[in-house]
Amino acid sequence: MGDIENPAFEQEVHKKIEETNFDDVNDSDDEVEKSPDTKFDDGEIPEAYAGMPAEVLIHYSRQKKWVFGRLAGWLVILATFATLISLSGVIIAQSPPCLDFWEKSPIYQIYPRSFKDCDPALNENRQDQICGDGIGDIPGIIEKLDYLKEDLGISVVWVSPIFKSPMQDFGYDVSDYRQPDPVFGNMADLQKLIEEMHNRGMKLVLDFVPNHTSVEHEKFQNMTEDFFVWRDGEKPKNSCPNNWQSVFAVNDKGDLPAWTYHPDVGKYYYRAFGWFQADLNMYNKEVQRFLNDILDFWLDEGVDGFRIDAIGYGFEEENFRNESYIDASEPEPLFWSNLYHDFTFEYEVYTSTEKNMKYYGSYEREADFPFNFDLIPLGLSGSIKGAEVRQLIDNWMFKMPFGRTPNWVVGNHDNTRLASRIDGMTDDDKIKISKLFAQLTFTLPGTNFIYNGEELGMVDLTEQELPDECKVDIQKDSRDFERNPIPWNGDLASNYGFSTCTGKQNLPQNCNQDRCTWLPLSETAVNGLNVASQIEDEDSVLNFYKKLIELRQDESFTRGSYCRNPADESGKPEGLLRYLRTLEGGKTFEIVFNWGNSGLKFDHKNGRNIVETFGSDKNELEPYSGVILELGSIPAEYQGKGICVQRRAVRKRNNLILTSATKDERLFDFEAHFG
Ligand code: GLC
Repeated sequence: MGDIENPAFEQEVHKKIEETNFDDVNDSDDEVEKSPDTKFDDGEIPEAYAGMPAEVLIHYSRQKKWVFGRLAGWLVILATFATLISLSGVIIAQSPPCLDFWEKSPIYQIYPRSFKDCDPALNENRQDQICGDGIGDIPGIIEKLDYLKEDLGISVVWVSPIFKSPMQDFGYDVSDYRQPDPVFGNMADLQKLIEEMHNRGMKLVLDFVPNHTSVEHEKFQNMTEDFFVWRDGEKPKNSCPNNWQSVFAVNDKGDLPAWTYHPDVGKYYYRAFGWFQADLNMYNKEVQRFLNDILDFWLDEGVDGFRIDAIGYGFEEENFRNESYIDASEPEPLFWSNLYHDFTFEYEVYTSTEKNMKYYGSYEREADFPFNFDLIPLGLSGSIKGAEVRQLIDNWMFKMPFGRTPNWVVGNHDNTRLASRIDGMTDDDKIKISKLFAQLTFTLPGTNFIYNGEELGMVDLTEQELPDECKVDIQKDSRDFERNPIPWNGDLASNYGFSTCTGKQNLPQNCNQDRCTWLPLSETAVNGLNVASQIEDEDSVLNFYKKLIELRQDESFTRGSYCRNPADESGKPEGLLRYLRTLEGGKTFEIVFNWGNSGLKFDHKNGRNIVETFGSDKNELEPYSGVILELGSIPAEYQGKGICVQRRAVRKRNNLILTSATKDERLFDFEAHFG
């Protein structure tokens, strides 16, 4: 050992140690020195030195002062450790959870046929003919990602179905869930879309249709046992198994039953929608596995979430009982809308918020949220009242389960466009009402949706633009009007920048229009209702959206409380609506609306106007206008019990959005796929 300093002494120590019985070593200083077994004489214990043998070291280590010293040291370490752990626990519990991607950005819905047809000049190497065919597609979406991200500020996009389909319901009749339809592109296009979106920090939500498949799906074609809902006809005349009716009233009488007879099978199959959309038998575990595997497949491809279509129709009552009539005095002919849907549809959109709330999940988290369509009827029956809007907001906010995220939908591919919803509005009013709805949905807590074109204040096609013989939707009450393509610029020759197609194409039989796009573009596109001119115009709806999307990043909007104004409860003046968004330690905003068609005096609180659509008099809101004020403090009228509600996310959840859902115990386990 190179560090021994005194070899003679070392030998002596070793000798002594060998003669010493260490079994009985005492732990007191005195006793060590006086022990009869110890051959060290008093004062003979050598001074500690580097490299002393373990046996000597033990003499020292057992001395009381070292034993207690060590113990105290350990206790201090343990106590510090425990304190740190508890402190971290408290900090984690108290700090707000991270917002999920679908809470940070509004969700932009793309109806792919109408968004953008790809430009052949940018896709010279393509073998297929999808660019310039007058129908929007996946490469077209890729072309416009920068528009979404940069010009608007959107990070989350939901694309209506792009899977292989005979297109009788334009994609909501899927024949292969694992392939894009060739009209939209191929798998490589979809992979590129995912990659390009992720490169820009964007997320992709796909539309998933689990309630039914196209009758062209191989499972239906092969009659895979028990995959669909088969019933024998009623004896003796082999008529429909019961009185259930199809949601789509596709013939003039509207008396289509929800059953279609299949001569090869000799039975009826149930289809809640069109005859070409056979309902899957969701009770069947094989079907559940089949659907789950599809979700897995797309998650593996990098898709970020799903919008689940028509899940409220997922499970039918097992005894197939007749539905009761809503108006029993008119039992014939049968209409979907004259039947209750206790056995075929668990949740009624537009009627019961309570029912809808169940689908947030009670003990188990089912979906991030069921769509909130409550705002859609606003304006359909005439003018809008502030009290009516407030009641709809409060209804959702105060009934929603604790810790969940609200959401706000004002339009989609099934509903009249927002700006066309109120009769008798001037073009100018339509712009104003578009902005006012944006002011509403962007400043409420939670996630809001933008149906493509809403950001332009886009209107429906008119009857002149789309005469009966040119309609393509299967539904009698055609949804073509709101599915009109996006005008990217004001140039008629290029179909307003939507498609480079030429000649007459995509026309239904008997339709004598001069166009090549699958639906006509609205003529309003030339009057500034197009993307290019709105990007240039500071006052455009588009730039208003952009401003609001930026403002919405403020934590007071993403995390803050929503406070209603009890002073408004009188409902007077009719157009007035006010609420507050505020966060402790953050900012406070008052949001004020005039939904009415005449000017409205209001108590302007001398805050800073952040966003405004009103005129020059700061105490008066013009018709259909509003203002967002940043205030120095919470005004007295907003203080008191039960006025505010704070949304707090309680735990990590799954990337699943439901349109509506089935009873808790019936919903199969989508959850395993997310998180
Ligand atoms: C949903 C869709 C609608 C579709 C129907 C059938 O309601 O939003 O467009 O036609 O489901 O899949």
